[in-house]
Amino acid sequence: MTSQRKTYIIANWKMNFTPGQASLYLHRLSNRVQSSRNLQIVLAPSTISLQPLSLQINRRQFKLCAQNFYWRDFGPYTGETAISQLRGFVDYALVGHSERRYIFGETDKDIRAKVATAIRNDVTPILCIGETALERKNGETKSAITDQLLGGLHDVSDEDLRKVIIAYEPVWAISSNKHAKPAKPADIAEAEMLIRKQIARLYGQTTADAIPILYGGSVNASTAAGYLDIPGIDGLLIGDASLVADSFCSIIESAKGIIDER
Ligand code: PGA
Repeated sequence: MTSQRKTYIIANWKMNFTPGQASLYLHRLSNRVQSSRNLQIVLAPSTISLQPLSLQINRRQFKLCAQNFYWRDFGPYTGETAISQLRGFVDYALVGHSERRYIFGETDKDIRAKVATAIRNDVTPILCIGETALERKNGETKSAITDQLLGGLHDVSDEDLRKVIIAYEPVWAISSNKHAKPAKPADIAEAEMLIRKQIARLYGQTTADAIPILYGGSVNASTAAGYLDIPGIDGLLIGDASLVADSFCSIIESAKGIIDER
């Protein structure tokens, strides 16, 4: 791993903020956040806020990310938004978030189609994978992670894999989960090594070493630095704690501190 790796701090605002509130919040963040080399700060607002925020945002400071999209490019799909409609506004898109898998029933087939569609539209997919509490209890963590990883990357070529980011988010650690428990660094390190090993097997070691792997699940201002210190973890995907300027800015400061130490 080189010291030139990028660190990603990604805010997943989920279904929070009206466009007006999102715009005010972005304004507040813009006044507090300094852009920094090797740090990529990404905001994922609701779909309805992407277009207005894209007009307001300083793209050297923040990038935008879609939380969701449909994998077809256009057509009779009432209520859906295509990534081809969002591509001018976003640089990234979440794919396979556990709330989409388990609340909205997205399958590995949907997720694989979305990964491929995002890449085709020049949007970086952030493929979210992670085991449920039950899979963990049953000793199926490795197979759950491997199945979701290989399922999501099924149609991705060697060259296109360089455009993908992986986020390891154990479902039992996500704050919206009633019994959420923060993951231990050792669990995250083990998952990160498994993900790189599987990618190395399919795409080669150089590609496996280069792919960014993020962690997400109940990250807050006091735990962020510890998670960012895990070797091989290239950033954080943050839900709840990204909704409050103080905690989100303090997570960004932790990331800067760690980048400076490298
Ligand atoms: P959380 O959400 O930080 O609130 O646990 C993370 C996510 O769902 O991406």
